[in-house]
Amino acid sequence: MKIKFASRMKTVPRSFIREILKVTTNPEIISFAGGLPNLKMIPIKELENACDSVLEQDGTRAMQYSTSEGYYRLRKWIADRYMKKHSLLVTPDDILITSGSQQALDLVSKVLLDKGTQVTIEKPGYLGAIQAMSVFEPRLSAVPVTETGIDIQALEKNFKTKKPKLFYAVPNFQNPSGITYDMETRKATAALCKKYNVIFVEDDPYGELRFSGTDLPIINKFLNKTGILFGSFSKIVAPGLRLGWVCAPKTIMKNLITVKQAADLHTNFFSQRIVYEYLTKNNLDTHIEKLKAVYGKHAKAMLACIEKYFPSEVKFTRPQGGMFIWVTLPAKIKAMALLKPALKEKVAFVPGDPFYVHTKNVNTLRLNYSNAEPDMIEEGIKRLGNAVKKLISK
Ligand SMILES: Cc1ncc(COP(=O)(O)O)c(C=O)c1O
Repeated sequence: MKIKFASRMKTVPRSFIREILKVTTNPEIISFAGGLPNLKMIPIKELENACDSVLEQDGTRAMQYSTSEGYYRLRKWIADRYMKKHSLLVTPDDILITSGSQQALDLVSKVLLDKGTQVTIEKPGYLGAIQAMSVFEPRLSAVPVTETGIDIQALEKNFKTKKPKLFYAVPNFQNPSGITYDMETRKATAALCKKYNVIFVEDDPYGELRFSGTDLPIINKFLNKTGILFGSFSKIVAPGLRLGWVCAPKTIMKNLITVKQAADLHTNFFSQRIVYEYLTKNNLDTHIEKLKAVYGKHAKAMLACIEKYFPSEVKFTRPQGGMFIWVTLPAKIKAMALLKPALKEKVAFVPGDPFYVHTKNVNTLRLNYSNAEPDMIEEGIKRLGNAVKKLISK
């Protein structure tokens, strides 16, 4: 039978990373491709204890249906943390627990995007956001990020000409570039969103993972609770739990809860109970300190190896946190053309292409440093450096 799929399926890109991850299941390949937390850093013993304790305390109740908004105590914990970390006044009612922040992207898109709605994203931008939004067939336009964050002049020009409904950004240790908005850019971004009436969607899964420099306020702090903010336990506890959240103004929240009910009734309740138990019996800040020390060490090792093994024409970002380094090859070298020779050398990365909406054949690529151990980082970067040198000399 020939199936005629919904027309939107023509516009949704397949996740390139999932495709590459299939290749990298080969244990001989050193992979800098995924955005995976380091397995050694998952607090497995503590999660096991939390799991036992939930089953002991709740028994079958831990397996019952629950509320669409999410477990109240977990929402309160998140709201209190916004107060503690950012002096941001948030109540549990402002929080909806989602199946990862990826679902937050889907729900917000469902509520706000029609076919043809203008949306502004970063260039390069998080490919999972491009994919999630594309299902709703918006018109995406992208504004370049510079070393200090979004290019403010270009953003204002974009707001004036495209008149977007929303601007989606990852201001801390961006996926894919590792770039962080400085203070001035944060304030200017908020001011422009206010001036042009653009809903700011701030995706912040890496904000707590700063290993150098000083923490900066979230941009929503300057928006007087008019913007939308996403958070996630994926990078600070464990991604397999699939727990994230969206913090949104009341009118938007009402609609988000409706589409959440339609999507899956509620987020995995057992998972929510386990994480809440984990958070109350352990000190998350102590765990985050360990994560920052390890990821900081990995980033330093990868940067030193890039300097040692890559030709000097290759440029790269120096992240202050998060999980990624963004590499710019000499203009004539396309990242896609490097992928095959790199895989032959048994090293994987993500070419920049899927992080752009209207740009193809780019000379940029993303490297992840959180997952591989430092000795593997050295070997992998050496192999990648060889593949780059061979391609340059062709
Ligand atoms: C910027 C950004 N947003 C959202 C996500 C989705 O994360 P999760 O659904 O695991 O919370 C990721 C995952 O890598 C990400 O990098």
